[in-house]
Amino acid sequence: MATSFSASSLLRTKPRLSSSSYLFTFLAFILFSALILNTHDFLFIFRPHHKTHPNTVLFSKPADELTQSNTVPNEEKTEEERVCDLFNGRWVRDELTRPLYEESECPYIQPQLTCQEHGRPDKEYRRLRWQPHGCDLPKFNASLMLETLRGKRMMFIGDSLNRGQYVSLICLLHHLIPEHAKSMETFDSLTVFTAKEYNATIEFYWAPFLLESNSDNAVIHRVTDRIVRKGSINKHGRYWKGADILVFNTYLWWVTGSKMKILLGSFKDEVKEIVELPTEEAYRMAMKSMLRWVRMNIDPNKTKVFFTSMSPSHGKSIEWGGQEGGNCYNETTPIEDPSYWGSDSLKSIMQVIGEEFRKSKVPITFLNITQLSNYRKDAHTSIYKKQWNPLTPEQLSNPASYSDCIHWCLPGLQDTWNELLFAKLFYP
Ligand SMILES: *[C@@H]1O[C@H](CO)[C@@H](O)[C@H](O)[C@H]1NC(C)=O
Ligand SMILES: *[C@@H]1O[C@H](CO)[C@@H](O)[C@H](O)[C@H]1NC(C)=O
Ligand SMILES: *[C@@H]1O[C@H](CO)[C@@H](O)[C@H](O)[C@H]1NC(C)=O
Ligand SMILES: *[C@@H]1O[C@H](CO)[C@@H](O)[C@H](O)[C@H]1NC(C)=O
Ligand SMILES: *[C@@H]1O[C@H](CO)[C@@H](O)[C@H](O)[C@H]1NC(C)=O
Repeated sequence: MATSFSASSLLRTKPRLSSSSYLFTFLAFILFSALILNTHDFLFIFRPHHKTHPNTVLFSKPADELTQSNTVPNEEKTEEERVCDLFNGRWVRDELTRPLYEESECPYIQPQLTCQEHGRPDKEYRRLRWQPHGCDLPKFNASLMLETLRGKRMMFIGDSLNRGQYVSLICLLHHLIPEHAKSMETFDSLTVFTAKEYNATIEFYWAPFLLESNSDNAVIHRVTDRIVRKGSINKHGRYWKGADILVFNTYLWWVTGSKMKILLGSFKDEVKEIVELPTEEAYRMAMKSMLRWVRMNIDPNKTKVFFTSMSPSHGKSIEWGGQEGGNCYNETTPIEDPSYWGSDSLKSIMQVIGEEFRKSKVPITFLNITQLSNYRKDAHTSIYKKQWNPLTPEQLSNPASYSDCIHWCLPGLQDTWNELLFAKLFYP
């Protein structure tokens, strides 16, 4: 158990480029020379580093950005400035490397997310790559990820958006596993993907509020009058124990447009004691419960914990300069405005997350995917998904009326969330 993260700890022990000012001065000199000579020939110097020092990938920059950053002498940069924020960047078209897999090659995608199969006419949304400002995301290495999971259990816990990320990860990995050596099974709230030869499982546990609620049934959970039970995280938490990597999310189910009903007693009580809390306070209660659960049940030397921020939705196109009454339907390009932030991603909730995480000493890696996903009005499943009920003529005459602007097509945006998870796991 001591070497539970052999691959990542191996990488971690390597000297970090950022801490070596000598190397930075050297690089600055090389780049300055490259600038003067107006040639990219010097960039060959970086390539051997990419092979031997995976860490350098994070701190190397594409040629055009390198020359820009060279205008500021590197010696004057603080440590903070050198560490690149992977969540701050832009979407770029990349036909060579995207998509990371084909929809038809991944049989695990639920029919709610197979957009091409359900007639989506455009494909551009699959050709975008996330480009952080000032550094590159490391390439997703499926075999490294699988080797790291050998003999381990990885678990995603949360709502359907976390399930999308879960499925995306399986799609990124499963091609390395022969047909007879993998399986996926569902037992109530738990879905388990098994890679037999690796003795590894990647699991998804349905708990849209993390705490016990009246929406916990894995199939029938569309309850309009949602009730969450205070202090009940162990109800689900006992099934998370022993996992080696945990990935939590929770957000959308808390946003009801009114106050959240919190049950103080038990769901079995005949007379239920219910209080109503503002969304933010109810959500804060869940964050506190989750952080406490992690502190009490997780050995940080053995288990790595992630928390994914709010997944944005795109229900009102006027917010990005579109027509009144429109939504993500018929959207095929991302939002270009770098400051765009949709009203569905409550800033007050982001603030609660920030406050509770800062207060807590528990080591949790925060995947702040909200801003980068906010740009992707084009990446939702929209009308191109399995419809469980037949559509009415009224709906058919107005496709926006039944467009799903919450969930995301696969392959697509959520593959990037996993690239970020991969980066944080191996290049912390
Ligand atoms: C991916 O990781 C494996 C280790 O599992 C390593 O041997 C291989 O070189 C890596 N591939 C790339 C392209 O970095
Ligand atoms: C398989 O992994 C589990 C943990 O997920 C561990 O308890 C078990 O000993 C492993 N079995 C083998 C044969 O390695
Ligand atoms: C984790 O490992 C460090 C160093 O190996 C050790 O000092 C610490 O006590 C360990 N923590 C726990 C909770 O086991
Ligand atoms: C979809 O968008 C295109 C151009 O962006 C526009 O020409 C077309 O009318 C739109 N279709 C619908 C049904 O809104
Ligand atoms: C997540 O990123 C957004 C946009 O960059 C930022 O405004 C927010 O404060 C971040 N959240 C936290 C909790 O750090």
